[in-house]
Amino acid sequence: MENQSRGQWGSTFGFLMAAVGSAVGLGNIWGFPYKMGSNGGFAFLLVYIIMVIFVGIIVMLGELALGRKTGRGAVGAYVALSKKYKWVGMMGVASGFLILSFYSVLGGMVLRYAVGYLVSMFGADGFAGAGTGFFGFLLYDYKGMLLCYVIFMLINIVIVMGGIKGGIEKFSSIAMPALFFMLLAVIIYVACQPGAGEGYAFMFKPDFTALKEDFLGVVRTAAGQMFFSLSLGMGCMITYGSYLAKNENLQRNAVIIPVADSIIAILAGCAVMPACAAFGVDFGAGPGLLFASMQTVFSNMGGFAGNLMGFLFYFLVLLAAITSSISLLEVCTTYAIDKRIDAGKDPARKKITVIYAAIIFVVGLPVALDALGSGGAAIPAPYELLGLSGDAIKGWNDCWLDVYDLISEGILMPLGALVMSLIIGWKLSPTRKHRDRENLIVLECQEGGHTFKAYKFFDICFKYIVPFGMLIVLYGQIVSFFG
Ligand code: PFF
Repeated sequence: MENQSRGQWGSTFGFLMAAVGSAVGLGNIWGFPYKMGSNGGFAFLLVYIIMVIFVGIIVMLGELALGRKTGRGAVGAYVALSKKYKWVGMMGVASGFLILSFYSVLGGMVLRYAVGYLVSMFGADGFAGAGTGFFGFLLYDYKGMLLCYVIFMLINIVIVMGGIKGGIEKFSSIAMPALFFMLLAVIIYVACQPGAGEGYAFMFKPDFTALKEDFLGVVRTAAGQMFFSLSLGMGCMITYGSYLAKNENLQRNAVIIPVADSIIAILAGCAVMPACAAFGVDFGAGPGLLFASMQTVFSNMGGFAGNLMGFLFYFLVLLAAITSSISLLEVCTTYAIDKRIDAGKDPARKKITVIYAAIIFVVGLPVALDALGSGGAAIPAPYELLGLSGDAIKGWNDCWLDVYDLISEGILMPLGALVMSLIIGWKLSPTRKHRDRENLIVLECQEGGHTFKAYKFFDICFKYIVPFGMLIVLYGQIVSFFG
């Protein structure tokens, strides 16, 4: 039933664009290629796809169904099941909060690069005379960082204030197709460059050396990446699902979103890896890939074509970042709206959005001001604050972004999904003790007369495979931060 005060998606296409938009983000265009680059290329791809099928699609379906069933966002949905699960939803909102704070700083940086290339296309110097060293310059250009951060946040506020249909759906329905065509343009241009073939070979030539050398390392990196990339484990898809009409086919949507997300991730790889190969840049370069390495690529391309491709690339990354960050903001906004509605008040979406975004902005300030831990920044890095040095400087404490990332992506998200899978798999499902019980999620999937043929597969995945997968992610995240 349509809930007038909360809002609802206007069409299946609009919902899919918003959900795929949430999934497709910096994780796909930045994380996927660089993690693939440093984890054995094809071997990584294979493990990633297996993870999507056995864990990603299942958790996606569980979250969408939980949201639609209860008609509530991350916290409200768990409370509707039982008050004692409230903390699971709260972990989700907390993750959304922290991720959005650093995600927006990164989004602002992407915006700065897009503007830089746009200006350069018209003959001006868009990179303050720093050329390919611009990344190092930008980190210490605090005014520039803050300005971009503010603008990025304002864009988010305006869209989310517009509501589900009039804001998020409207923006995503234009941004996602635009992103897709721009990505295709970059891929085609790159494919025509001599030397690009090495990049494809790296991605698609069967080579399992990485799996033999460090099996667990590849599995945990692929699992963590899959999870973040699909926006799972923090109630984002619960929130989006809560705005879905009852006649929507949940099981079909739960397959479309991960498939589309994976295709875009692979396409992003097809733009980035061959470009690096053709223009002499190392594609295993790690996190610097999106900024430092890709700028070198476009600079080596040279001339107008280099600037145009640079603009297209960073603009499409910007669109990807915005369609993801609005979903993070919506998790927080919906949480507050639900609380107000339950208390008999009007939703006050606009006011709530501004208040939450403002708080998140303040929380993200250290990320914008610590030069990502490069030292000598405006504010001390976490390890400096803690008086740590030498070997004590680890992945979790070398900059503020990593502290936030550890808490959210590292701990809260996999823990949230682990608990969710246990609740869905064991509490809401028929078990030996409750043979006559029907799985709540399955019933929800059958709403509107849709059949659910893969029920058995779903049940086994939720009971055993997803919890096991989540334990691997949790373990992997802790190793990568503290190891
Ligand atoms: N899926 C996004 C990406 O790949 O960049 C990030 C993200 C968005 C994570 C929304 C979690 C979320 F709820």
